[in-house]
Amino acid sequence: MTNESPIVRISNLRLERGGRTVLSDINLEVPRGRIVAVLGPSGSGKSTLLAALTGELAPAAGTVEVLGQSVPQRRRDLLELRKGIGVLLQGNGLLTDLTAAENVALPLRAHTRLPDAVIRQLVLMKLHAVGLRAAADAFPRELSGGMARRVALARALALDPPLMIYDEPLTGLDPIASGVVMDLMRRLNDTLGLTSIVVTHHVHETLPVADQAIVIANGRIVFSGTPSQLESSQDPLVHQFLKGEPDGPIAFDAAPRAPEAA
Ligand SMILES: Nc1ncnc2c1ncn2[C@@H]1O[C@H](COP(=O)(O)OP(=O)(O)OP(=O)(O)O)[C@@H](O)[C@H]1O
Ligand SMILES: [Mg+2]
Repeated sequence: MTNESPIVRISNLRLERGGRTVLSDINLEVPRGRIVAVLGPSGSGKSTLLAALTGELAPAAGTVEVLGQSVPQRRRDLLELRKGIGVLLQGNGLLTDLTAAENVALPLRAHTRLPDAVIRQLVLMKLHAVGLRAAADAFPRELSGGMARRVALARALALDPPLMIYDEPLTGLDPIASGVVMDLMRRLNDTLGLTSIVVTHHVHETLPVADQAIVIANGRIVFSGTPSQLESSQDPLVHQFLKGEPDGPIAFDAAPRAPEAA
């Protein structure tokens, strides 16, 4: 694998959930070092696409390559691959009876045999990277929503993954905390040499820090290009989505869905 090869390469992918096709004809290459925004209305399949990258969902057709290898089916290989993918999910997933530092230490304890003192140093470095070194011994309930999101980000970075995946990183944050998280995402991406994939419907907060954007609607990628190309797109689908108009070519998914696990 050369450094020039894309970090994610998806070809002719089709994904199903509960026997129903959610996405088809998905082709996407994510070059190293970029931040790619994955946009689209609720229920369009954004999280489903992420599930294919982490191997949680196997393709119904087509191929998914991540970090230069086809996403494996065998559980042991999959766990190995996932060490290279930092995931920040919508809920922070912080354990409430552990401090910020102990939460960040979890992946290091699970995947390395480093001595405690070394883990503590690494944890403090990660917390420092998100501007929260001083909050190391605070419990999640003592943190604001934005701080808790940054602790979760530090934990996702714990194993120095080359690829970061964010699913709705701004949910529940006010505009200031949102700005902090987006700036941090860009800064970490560039200083640590990461590649980031950001799923969000916060279009206007995300586009300024993204290098590339795709829009998913009606089970397909309906736009792929730069943020400025997106903003000037005349495509009626893209237009409807960006303007948040209820009527137009995007068929909104009316099917009820199972409640998501928190
Ligand atoms: N585990 C599942 N079993 C069955 N259907 C599912 C499952 N997860 C998602 N779906 C369906 O797949 C479609 C895409 O869901 P997905 O969660 O990927 O959308 P999304 O774009 O992430 O939406 P949101 O913006 O609301 O998070 C929806 O129709 C949803 O009902
Ligand atoms: Mg989702």
